[in-house]
Amino acid sequence: MRVKRICCIGAGYVGGPTMAIIAQKNPSIAVTVVDINANRIAAWNDENLDNLPIYEPGLSEVVKEARGKNLFFSTAVDQAIEEADMIFISVNTPTKTYGVGKGMAADLKFIELCARQIARVSKSNKIVVEKSTLPVRTAEALKSILDNTGNGVNFQILSNPEFLAEGTAVNDLLNPDRVLIGGDIDHEKGKEAMQALVDVYASWVPKERILTTNIWSSELSKLTANAFLAQRVSSINALSELCEATGADDNEVAKAIGADSRIGSKFLQASVGFGGSCFQKDILNLVYISRSLGLAEVADYWEQVITMNDHQKDRFAKKMVSTMYNTVSGKQIALLGWAFKKDTNDTRESAAIYVADELLAEQAQLHVFDPKVQKQQILNDLKTLNTRSEEENANLVSIYNDPFKACEDVHAIAVMTEWDEFREYDWQKIYDQMMKPAFVFDGRNILDAKKLEAIGFSVFQIGKAN
Ligand code: UDX
Ligand code: UDX
Ligand code: ADP
Repeated sequence: MRVKRICCIGAGYVGGPTMAIIAQKNPSIAVTVVDINANRIAAWNDENLDNLPIYEPGLSEVVKEARGKNLFFSTAVDQAIEEADMIFISVNTPTKTYGVGKGMAADLKFIELCARQIARVSKSNKIVVEKSTLPVRTAEALKSILDNTGNGVNFQILSNPEFLAEGTAVNDLLNPDRVLIGGDIDHEKGKEAMQALVDVYASWVPKERILTTNIWSSELSKLTANAFLAQRVSSINALSELCEATGADDNEVAKAIGADSRIGSKFLQASVGFGGSCFQKDILNLVYISRSLGLAEVADYWEQVITMNDHQKDRFAKKMVSTMYNTVSGKQIALLGWAFKKDTNDTRESAAIYVADELLAEQAQLHVFDPKVQKQQILNDLKTLNTRSEEENANLVSIYNDPFKACEDVHAIAVMTEWDEFREYDWQKIYDQMMKPAFVFDGRNILDAKKLEAIGFSVFQIGKAN
């Protein structure tokens, strides 16, 4: 069977870019991305491509090419479901904030709503593809809802987790290390559905990179791939503290370790801590599942990755305070960067939020600048913490559109995100306008410490003896 119409429920960081590339590479397939958030859909349809809801290098060009031809963004969810022969579920699965598994388990209510909606609307057979990251065995729940509440049509469920990283989404989609498709590999209908999805990707992905597995392996691989990646960051971050205490240099250690091809050189950049919508959520989920299955040691093992990450954020904030004579009360501090990594406007779980919270608890006055994150987003992130009133946040935090203005008259600058432009700033000019001694806390090790010290700055970097 060849797919003719695809519907994707959820026009977010995963659904939007993924469908844009699928549409661009499959001109014969009509792809409709739907969302209940009308503002988001309007932004995807905006004439001005600078207003797309998601910033990703190269994305606007792809949208420009395909939009209106075979790529559509709409709020008409029922219609798009009804017309499609393949439906991707790409809605958010945040960590539960209530009830059993609060703070650990994935909240599947959005997924269940989608399943019920698909079941209610569908009058012909559909292939339903899990794109969102889901706990292992979610497909079972999906199948049960679809089969028990539907109109007697046949549903085939596939798991096709997305491995793109934000900031490099377009390139990751165009050149994936692998595409993973899990399905009912033991039955003819399952195999047909898997082949239909393989064909969609085969338009541009070499066949040997398209892996097919049973559905549980596929679901679990996504969670554990993220856990392995996060573990590398926590491992190098743990070493960074050891480096600071011993005089070893984390970059030199990372290079030496990474040169071993069994280890590999990527993802060994020490930082103020990992963020993003996936790592913490997926590990918490893995820990929760392991504990539910009675696997206490497995749960404890993975949980330590989160403990280390929380510690890294916390010790960075504490280092700032202790370096500034144990008080930042009333001091102005500039935070450069708010996104959880460069080249994205996404701030979910960004280390900057937690460092800011600790500094605010010490009564610092923050000046925030990020090249792509909007003011309202920064205030929302602080509000979500629930640590202090919105009014207090607004009084203590100023948000700037100009990095030089943000750094004027401050006692310290903290680099929270590794935006390339931070390296290129006129640091002499920044120094001249700062309070003295002028402190720089480089949470991403992107600045040239020797150059800054020659100007007169006191510089702290992760993983360097100070
Ligand atoms: C190790 C280091 O690899 C080597 O660089 C260092 O110089 C000395 O210590 P060694 O202990 O000889 O070498 O063997 P290694 O191949 O690393 O295996 C260590 C253990 O891990 C073995 O028991 C091996 O069976 C086990 N192992 C290794 C696994 O169980 N799975 C793997 O994927 C790899
Ligand atoms: C991750 C996975 O990489 C991707 O495969 C999955 O689909 C979604 O989750 P993402 O969260 O977008 O992607 O970004 P990633 O590049 O993995 O970075 C996550 C966090 O780790 C960022 O805060 C980043 O700054 C941090 N990081 C990454 C480090 O601190 N050091 C590193 O060496 C690498
Ligand atoms: P991700 O990073 O996983 O893509 P996002 O939060 O960026 O997560 O995107 C998920 C999108 O899914 C949001 O825009 C949200 O409005 C949408 N969504 C959630 N539930 C539904 C639903 N039942 N129907 C349509 N869209 C939904």
